[in-house]
Amino acid sequence: MKVSIIGGGGLVGSCAAFALQCGGIAREIALLDLNADLAGGHALDLLHGTPSVADQIITSGGYEHIPDSDVICITAGLRRKPDESRLDLINRNVDLFLSILDSVKGAGVKKDAICFVVSNPVDILTYLAAQRLDLPTSRVIGLGTQLDTIRFRSLIAQEMKLPPTQVKALILGEHGDSMLPVWSYASVNGLPLDKFPGWNPNKATELFTRTRGSGAEVIKKKGGAGFAVGIAIRDVIEAIALDKNQVLPVSSVQNGCYGIRNVALSVPTLVGREGVVGTYEIDLWPKEVQQLRHSGTVLRQTLETVLKRVGGN
Ligand code: 2OP
Repeated sequence: MKVSIIGGGGLVGSCAAFALQCGGIAREIALLDLNADLAGGHALDLLHGTPSVADQIITSGGYEHIPDSDVICITAGLRRKPDESRLDLINRNVDLFLSILDSVKGAGVKKDAICFVVSNPVDILTYLAAQRLDLPTSRVIGLGTQLDTIRFRSLIAQEMKLPPTQVKALILGEHGDSMLPVWSYASVNGLPLDKFPGWNPNKATELFTRTRGSGAEVIKKKGGAGFAVGIAIRDVIEAIALDKNQVLPVSSVQNGCYGIRNVALSVPTLVGREGVVGTYEIDLWPKEVQQLRHSGTVLRQTLETVLKRVGGN
């Protein structure tokens, strides 16, 4: 499988490339960036490690890589300032993103390709990509709350001194301020988290609050996320590459799941080689359903503002 990363010269794109390289699943990784030297430098640096990892082709270049790409991962975009919400980014990044979509369309996209959006605000941009690319909506996926979910699990594990791979907890909705924790299914190797010694509602609130602020926390400390977002990107791309039909909290245009339509956000989604294979409207607590629908409302309001400016419905 060939993965082209548009924005591959940047922190997110290069970390995603490294995560994919270490996963050894993607057969070919191409880094595309306006800063061709930077993308070329990352590609060369990655190439030097291939003998000890996997027999992969690692290159850089321009949109000539798009026509034979199986996954087109778009990470390019301006990063948030520490006190800026993801939605504040929108005008700055929408124009850049639409120009990228035009270049992708102009280069030509395989009919069985997947467009994987990471750039922020990811839910808004995922919707725009689904509207503008000549791909079935199911073949346009946004990273959504997969990054938030692994952050959430990592912080719970750290706090409770539990193995992070065994902590299962979910974040759904917007990859942004209106994201919501799904406590109804939080568990540790199948055992309910809220039955563990030391667990209490205050701790739950603190951990979710820290999760929701993790993007800004990392930006304040190091300018922007790279490693964990690269891992989250690898999680999704390998679910596609291996046709895992894995249930992941990723963003896609909703058509009635939990009563939500005409907006992209994260619900439990079956991800395989065809992209979004299906979505699961699993039972949630009434409060969780209400929060998820609120997230959809917030995103749709912003989307309508954007659509007024750039066109679309
Ligand atoms: C984050 O939460 C990059 O939006 C991403 O760090």
